[in-house]
Amino acid sequence: MDNFSYQEWKKARLESCPRSVEELLVEIGGLINLSDAEKAEIQTVLRRSNMAVYRCRDDFVDRAAVCAFASNFGLERLDHHLCTNADGVSEISVASEGEGPRTEYVPYSNRGLSWHTDGYYNHKARQINALVLHCAQNASIGGESTLFDPEMAYILLRDEDPRFITAFEHPECMTIPANVGAEGEIRAAVCGPVFSYDVGGAIHMRYSARKRNIQWRDDDITAAARDFLTEILTDENGPVFRYRLQPGEGLICNNVLHNRTAFEDGAGHKRLLYRARFFDRIETS
Ligand SMILES: [Fe+2]
Repeated sequence: MDNFSYQEWKKARLESCPRSVEELLVEIGGLINLSDAEKAEIQTVLRRSNMAVYRCRDDFVDRAAVCAFASNFGLERLDHHLCTNADGVSEISVASEGEGPRTEYVPYSNRGLSWHTDGYYNHKARQINALVLHCAQNASIGGESTLFDPEMAYILLRDEDPRFITAFEHPECMTIPANVGAEGEIRAAVCGPVFSYDVGGAIHMRYSARKRNIQWRDDDITAAARDFLTEILTDENGPVFRYRLQPGEGLICNNVLHNRTAFEDGAGHKRLLYRARFFDRIETS
């Protein structure tokens, strides 16, 4: 993006972006019978921040209802992977012994998750552009998320040093080594940029703050860009949104940066989130 276009775009983004997490919240009746007015309200929030948190009044929500809700926003092409159910929706909960591949991955434990965007280990052809995360049950303690719009990250990085953007656009910026299981290779190594752009110019961010299993391009500017991003994301008073989803609430977003604190389940509080990941980007108009 040339500097003139960037300054115009930035001005508009900063004028409209939400200042508090409350501005992300939209009350809706039910997931499967979303009204036109509710849809429009969610789209307005999404245009401002690439994310919205809905609060529905359904007594019961299943995986099909999450998909029905998502389809209102053009989200149809689900990412089916190792840990999804046959319908392509994952149940994010603490996996017990013998529950197959889920036990191997941190999201299916009660441990915290560091900052990332979903599918950072996917090839470009399977890039995750959007996701819906619906909370069916929360934990007794913890399980809070922090959220950050990649477009805001882009602005802060570019204004600090435009070379940070160039470094993060490099096609060999971030490499995820192959995933090798007992039976052999599950996924080949994946190499790609942090920032990429779709045909309409929308920014996609691919990122993980994990220290292990990530190989960054060995370059001073890349290292400085990573340090600066870490500073933004870990600043207690920074421009991030902290939110703990309650039962009946969910996040719909264009794969924004997020993390999760560790949690403890308790009686009647076995944390369960339905997660649907899409190759589509959200239709916001
Ligand atoms: Fe995630």
